[in-house]
Amino acid sequence: MEKIVEDFRKLGVNRNEPILIIGGGVIGDIGAFAASIYHRSTPYIMLSTSVVSAIDSGPSPRSCCDAGGFKNLLGSFHAPVLNISDRSFFKSLKTSWVRHGIAEIHKMAVIRDKELFILLEDTGLNLMKTHFGTINCNSQDEIVSKSKKIIGLSLKSYVESEYDNLHEVHSIRDHAFGHGLSANFELKAGLLHGHAISVEMTLSSFMSYKRGWLSEKDLHRILKLFSEYELSLWHDILLDEKCMNEGFDKILQKRGGNLAIPVPIAIGKCKYINDLTKPELKEIIQEYKQVVSKYPRKGLGVEPLCSDAGLEDPVTVFKADENIEKEAKLN
Ligand SMILES: NC(=O)c1ccc[n+]([C@@H]2O[C@H](COP(=O)([O-])OP(=O)(O)OC[C@H]3O[C@@H](n4cnc5c(N)ncnc54)[C@H](O)[C@@H]3O)[C@@H](O)[C@H]2O)c1
Repeated sequence: MEKIVEDFRKLGVNRNEPILIIGGGVIGDIGAFAASIYHRSTPYIMLSTSVVSAIDSGPSPRSCCDAGGFKNLLGSFHAPVLNISDRSFFKSLKTSWVRHGIAEIHKMAVIRDKELFILLEDTGLNLMKTHFGTINCNSQDEIVSKSKKIIGLSLKSYVESEYDNLHEVHSIRDHAFGHGLSANFELKAGLLHGHAISVEMTLSSFMSYKRGWLSEKDLHRILKLFSEYELSLWHDILLDEKCMNEGFDKILQKRGGNLAIPVPIAIGKCKYINDLTKPELKEIIQEYKQVVSKYPRKGLGVEPLCSDAGLEDPVTVFKADENIEKEAKLN
């Protein structure tokens, strides 16, 4: 992020000329953060080239970067003046990046949009194999029109949800589904973002079922959708009690003393859990493990780690940050 700001200075970026950011969620997050603090605020246009940026992080007002081993510790609210989502870019993505990106679409489908959920059930793995109808298919194939519809519906749900509360003045945010505990374990487990949020989304669906809010049929419909798309229902990091409790505390810090955990109460409908305790969470995780162990791959995702997908392993970065902190304490 600092390097980007330095480049803006060297290039003499003007405040009246929007910067063009091209790429996925990571460059979008850090580029938007750099733009938000450069000259106190400089506009930018986002050309979203990955699944995640096209339907979620691209139009998002949340800019950020990781710090001190924590995901998105620093950031600001700085929406693009224009976001362009063009699925023709998806051709050149690795399939593992497409798979993890689809998790953000599952998020909107489960929590807000039943029509989208049904479409995802209908296309199944074909959506991923054809990279949203851009490879391994003909232009006349049904998957092309269905892919366009999936992107359209995802963007509609996302913008409706996000732009009602652009500066997060309250924590009743359904699109935060899966984005609580996972923010603490994603880097530590070295997981791709989509797999980390999938683990939490399916776990929170189970929490809702345990409260009698979500039917058993809908719970398994949700778990099946994630499993069929080869996303993670499980990672052993869930058994790391210290990490889960840390994540629990961080949710409270971030959400003004509330847990406000969004959970589905039916496909496309959401409610919030605010009164969970740490012992309850531990117990639920144990039970959840038994349930997902009956799923294909015992609930594990395919290529769930950043290192599986050819990206830098965040665990290495996390450890390096920890060492810097230790050295600073010694000094
Ligand atoms: N700000 C927000 O609201 C928000 C929302 C959701 C996710 N995110 C963040 O987004 C990140 C994930 O985004 P992502 O999936 O785009 O990952 P990414 O940005 O790491 O992109 C994955 C890789 O794909 C490359 N790439 C991008 N477009 C390509 C294309 N068309 N062809 C070939 N390669 C391409 C990138 O250079 C990168 O190497 C996570 O860090 C997540 O936290 C932010």
